[in-house]
Amino acid sequence: MTTTLSPIDCAKLAVAERACTFIAAGMNVGLGTGSTAAFLVRRLGERVRSEGLDIVCVPTSAATAALAREEGIRLATLDDAGWLDLTVDGADEFDPAFNLIKGGGGALLQEKIVATASNRMIVIVDASKQVETLGAFPLPVEVLGFGMDATMALLGKVLETQDVDGRRIEPRRRDGKLFTTDEGNHVLDLHLKRIGNARDLALALNQIPGIVENGLFIGMCDTIILGNVDGTVETIMASKDQSEASSSDGAGSVRLAGAE
Ligand code: A5P
Repeated sequence: MTTTLSPIDCAKLAVAERACTFIAAGMNVGLGTGSTAAFLVRRLGERVRSEGLDIVCVPTSAATAALAREEGIRLATLDDAGWLDLTVDGADEFDPAFNLIKGGGGALLQEKIVATASNRMIVIVDASKQVETLGAFPLPVEVLGFGMDATMALLGKVLETQDVDGRRIEPRRRDGKLFTTDEGNHVLDLHLKRIGNARDLALALNQIPGIVENGLFIGMCDTIILGNVDGTVETIMASKDQSEASSSDGAGSVRLAGAE
C-alpha cells in the first residue's frame, strides 16, 4: 500500500532523512518531539530494523518514547545514557541567529534538558518556521500549578520591561482543561508578536520562581536542516562548523549561516 504525503509532510520527511545521515552506529541520540521529529523517529526505526543500526536514544516526551518503542529503537533515560552525541528536534520558529521558539507540543522542558546535554543540536524544520524576528508564534512557558495566578501577575509585570509588541498571556487548554505537561506542570502561551531581544527575555522569564522553563532556545542549535515543499533540502550550519560542513554532508545543499 502506498501513501501519498502532503507537500508539507514531504518536506518533513526530507529533512528527517537528511538528519539521519548525521547519525551513526554507537551514538547516543536525543529524539525531539512533534510531527517533524516523528518522521525522524520512524526513519531511524527503519534503519534499526534494516541495517541493525546500533544506537541508544533518549526521548524528549512520553509521545516520542511510545513511538520509538513501537519502532524498535533502544531507549535509555538521560541519566543512564550520560552525555549525548547529538539531539535532533523540530522547532516552531527559528531566526537568522539560530535562536528558536519551541514547546508548541508542550515538551519544551525535556527538550531543553536533553539538547543541553548534547554535543550538538540539529533542528529539522519546514520553510514555514523561518522568521526574521521571533515572536509571531506564541512563546510557550512551562509553569508550576502552585500559585499560577501569582506567577501570571508577575509575568505580566516582567513583560512590561521587555522589548515585545504584545503582552497577552494565555493558559494553554486541552479538552476544556488546563494542559498538563509530562512533568505535571502547565503551559502559558505568551502572545508577544515580536521579540526584540530573545536572550534578555529568556533570562528575565527564568527569574520568576513559578516559571519552570521557557521555550526560547538561545545559542543551542548549530545546524538547521530546512525542507521546502518541492522536496529540496538545505543544511545551514553555524559558521563555526565550517570544516564540518564540507565533510559531513557533501551530498546536499550546504551553506553557512549568513553566507550569500
Ligand atoms: C514540541 O514541544 C515542540 O517543541 C516541537 O518541536 C515543535 O512544536 C515543532 O513541532 P512540529 O514539528 O510538529 O511543527
